[in-house]
Amino acid sequence: MTTIRIAIVAAALAAAGAVQAANLEAGKQKAQEICQACHGMDGQSAAFVDYPKIGGQHQDYLAKALRDYRSGARKNPVMGAMAATLTPLDIDNVTAYYARQPGGLAARF
Ligand code: HEC
Repeated sequence: MTTIRIAIVAAALAAAGAVQAANLEAGKQKAQEICQACHGMDGQSAAFVDYPKIGGQHQDYLAKALRDYRSGARKNPVMGAMAATLTPLDIDNVTAYYARQPGGLAARF
């Protein structure tokens, strides 16, 4: 009985982990389709120097920014339109992807 219970708990935990883990491949694909035109695949702002660098930024920061653009809490016509096309799952995936790119969060003087 105990063995069965342990197996069930282990299976449930494995399933929960799989659901929560962001899909980096899907995130990369989204970046390729939409974001790279302005932010670059590495998130280091290919298009214009004043576009923010998002590569290597904390995932929760990026996800909050995107949710705020979607809700209108943060207003920007360009990013508002971009974020409107993203589902919550897209946001998880694409921010997981960009958070894993090399970045420059540490101050360099
Ligand atoms: C047409 C150009 C363009 C595209 C495409 C684009 N962005 Fe942006 N992004 C911008 C601009 C411009 C800003 C700065 C907006 C502002 O001042 O709030 C920005 C800001 C952001 C920010 C906030 C950064 C910060 O430091 O606060 C995030 C996160 C972001 N973009 C993610 C994405 C993601 C993810 C995609 C793809 C789904 C994407 N962007 C596609 C132009 C773009």
